[in-house]
Amino acid sequence: MEIRINSEQLYGELEKLASFSDAPPPAVTRIVFSKTDLAARAYIKELCRAADLVIREDAVGNMFARWPGSEPGLPAIGTGSHTDAIPHAGLFDGTVGVLGGLEAIHALQRAGHKPRRSIELVMFTSEEPTRFSIGCLGSRLLSGSLTVERARSLKDRDGRSLDDVRAAAGFTGSLDDVILPRDYYDTFLELHVEQGPVLEQRNIPVGVVTAIAAPASLRMQIEGEGGHAGTVLMPQRHDAFLAAAEISLALEAAAKSTGATDTVATVGVCDVFPGAVNGIPSRVKLEIDVRDIDLGRRDFVLQALHRTCGEVTKQRGVQIRTEILNADPPAQSSRSAVDAVIQACTELEIQCLPMVSRAYHDSLFMSRITQIAMVFVRCRAGVSHRPDEYSSPEDIGLGTKVLAKTLARLSL
Ligand code: GLV
Ligand code: MN
Ligand code: MN
Repeated sequence: MEIRINSEQLYGELEKLASFSDAPPPAVTRIVFSKTDLAARAYIKELCRAADLVIREDAVGNMFARWPGSEPGLPAIGTGSHTDAIPHAGLFDGTVGVLGGLEAIHALQRAGHKPRRSIELVMFTSEEPTRFSIGCLGSRLLSGSLTVERARSLKDRDGRSLDDVRAAAGFTGSLDDVILPRDYYDTFLELHVEQGPVLEQRNIPVGVVTAIAAPASLRMQIEGEGGHAGTVLMPQRHDAFLAAAEISLALEAAAKSTGATDTVATVGVCDVFPGAVNGIPSRVKLEIDVRDIDLGRRDFVLQALHRTCGEVTKQRGVQIRTEILNADPPAQSSRSAVDAVIQACTELEIQCLPMVSRAYHDSLFMSRITQIAMVFVRCRAGVSHRPDEYSSPEDIGLGTKVLAKTLARLSL
């Protein structure tokens, strides 16, 4: 069976999907359940219908597009990723796994492949934490990694609950029905751009992910005392922003102190209240992301952060409330799924590098209910979560070909 990927068409679809954006090109902003996200979803569904896939959506908006196999009762082979994008992002993160997954199915259909196990494309809801402060919302829920009770308590930045927001977007079913049984999938494969520099540095187009790093994120509310920027003298101040600044720098120091390049920590959100040039900040909200491929080192940074908060509370006379939004363990790919990807690469004569993923992905949670592996596509200079994120049509085509070949093998 010869698999031919239509890279040009796939690239055109990626570009078209990027036009559903709340930021001017080349930036892409697509926040879950925004009008733009719903329009992008409609576009993907139209493409799936044209490929004769059977579409189902669950109560949180995960979309499943199934190519039924000749033995439809068998656990399926899943593939897919997400199409939401953080503010001012690029056009490849997640989308390559959805549209590339669809193109892999097209290529197998064109090649006359007859799957025994169904092949199912998944578009996960809200892999990005932008709206509800928790990443991989859809895959967490369907894998049972997030309780329905906790999901119901989630609120967006405007204070709207997940239930309200999803209902307004047309997803009204019960969240209790989102969870999937453990035998739903036999294997799940996610195609994704690498988002790091390793493949380019090694001059290898494709990677196979053997493990996904352990991410944690926290929300911190710092309460100080506001006042007039001219009249309150420095010794009398309890400036919430300066407390936040001190905590942020201590976080950086803690991440660097592990001596491991794999430890990373970021303060990605810093909301200052009341936000006036002549007002002392009385309140600050921070959102903090800490990761490592080693759980012990990641947790060491979290503990150091906790200690710093204690010190800053005393020294600056502020109050700090910390909420751990998630602290997920790392995930291992399954040996058999990794081997299947490597074998596909060997047969296609495409060089492939086994590697870890320092970004998280929906596969982190899919690993709780099924065997997983990921196929990475080389990207330019390791740039991601930026408008200049780029992978070439050729490399995306190669990754998609590897995915298609692996899906073909696993679905027999
Ligand atoms: C995924 O978007 C991540 O932040 O790793
Ligand atoms: Mn992302
Ligand atoms: Mn992604």
